[in-house]
Amino acid sequence: MANYALWAPARPWRVTASDRLMSEDLQLSDHRIVLCGANGTLGRAIARKLADEGTHLALLGRNIEAMKAVADGLPNSASGRRHLVVQCDLGQQPSIDTAIDTAEKDLGGIDVFISAAGASQGGIFWELDDAAWQRNLEVKLFGTLRILRSVSARMTQSNRGRIVIVAGNSAEKPDPRMLPGAAANAALLTIVRGLADELKPRGVTINAVSPGPVRSPRLDALMKAEAERSGVTPEQATAAFLERSGVRELAAPEDVADYVAFFASNLSSYLTGTSITV
Ligand SMILES: NC(=O)c1ccc[n+]([C@@H]2O[C@H](COP(=O)([O-])OP(=O)(O)OC[C@H]3O[C@@H](n4cnc5c(N)ncnc54)[C@H](OP(=O)(O)O)[C@@H]3O)[C@@H](O)[C@H]2O)c1
Repeated sequence: MANYALWAPARPWRVTASDRLMSEDLQLSDHRIVLCGANGTLGRAIARKLADEGTHLALLGRNIEAMKAVADGLPNSASGRRHLVVQCDLGQQPSIDTAIDTAEKDLGGIDVFISAAGASQGGIFWELDDAAWQRNLEVKLFGTLRILRSVSARMTQSNRGRIVIVAGNSAEKPDPRMLPGAAANAALLTIVRGLADELKPRGVTINAVSPGPVRSPRLDALMKAEAERSGVTPEQATAAFLERSGVRELAAPEDVADYVAFFASNLSSYLTGTSITV
C-alpha cells in the first residue's frame, strides 16, 4: 500500500529511504523464494520480512532443527502454504543440487534466490594461516559460487528470476583484522557485476546487499576475539571497530532485510549487477 507520509515519527534520524520504500506494496505475494542461510541473524530477519509479504519460502541451511524453529514462527504464504525447510551444506555440490531440486519441485519453480549464508573469522594478517583463509573463503565465496551455479542454470532455462546476494561492505572498507571475509565479499561483488551481463539477456537479475556492521552474535563473537587479541574489553573493541568503520550506530538485521526484499521485488526490475550498501 503506497504511503508517502512526509511527517517523520519520533525518531526522525531513523526515517530512511528504506522506511518510505518499504511502506510500498512490494507485490511479492506468493512469490516462490529460496533463502539460503535462513537460520542466521540476517537470514531470520529476511525470512520474517518476506513471509510478512506473503511469499512462499524454502529455507535452506545445515541446521534443520534451527530452520524448523524459524519456519514455525512465520505466517503462511498468502495462499496459506507452509514454508519448506531443506537441508543444504554449501560445502557439498551434491547437497546443494539436491536442495535446490527439492525446493524447485515443492514450490513449483523459483522466482527469487537469496543467499545470506556465511562464516568468517578475524585475525592479525600474519597469524592467519592458509587453513584459516581457506575456512573463511570456503562457505562465503565457494559455497555461494556453488549454489549460484545451480540456481542460475535453472533460472536461465525458465528465462526469469531474481538473485540477491548478501555480501558485505567490508569489500569496500576492509577492516585490517577481518581481511578474509572482506576478500570473499569483494570477490562476490565482482561476480555479481560480471554475471549480471551473462544473465541479463536471459531475463534474470542479480544484485547484492552489502551490510556494514549489524547487531548480531556474529559481530559479538568477532569483537570478543578481537578484544582477547588486543587485551581490551569487548565493548572497547566494538567502539574502536565502529570508529574505524565510520558508523555511529550498528544497523539492525531488519534494516538489511528491507533492502533484500526490495531487490527481490518488481520495484528493482531495472536494476542488475549493482549493490546497495546498508
Ligand atoms: N552480521 C553482520 O554484521 C554482517 C555484516 C556484513 C555482512 N554480513 C554477511 O551476512 C551473511 C549472514 O550474516 P549473519 O550475521 O546472519 O551470520 P550468522 O548468524 O552466522 O549466520 C550464518 C548462516 O550461514 C549458514 N551457513 C554457514 N555455513 C554453512 C554451510 N556450510 N552450508 C549452509 N549454510 C551455512 C548458517 O546456517 P547453519 O547454521 O544451518 O549452518 C547460518 O544460517 C554472512 O555472509 C556475513 O558475512 C554480516
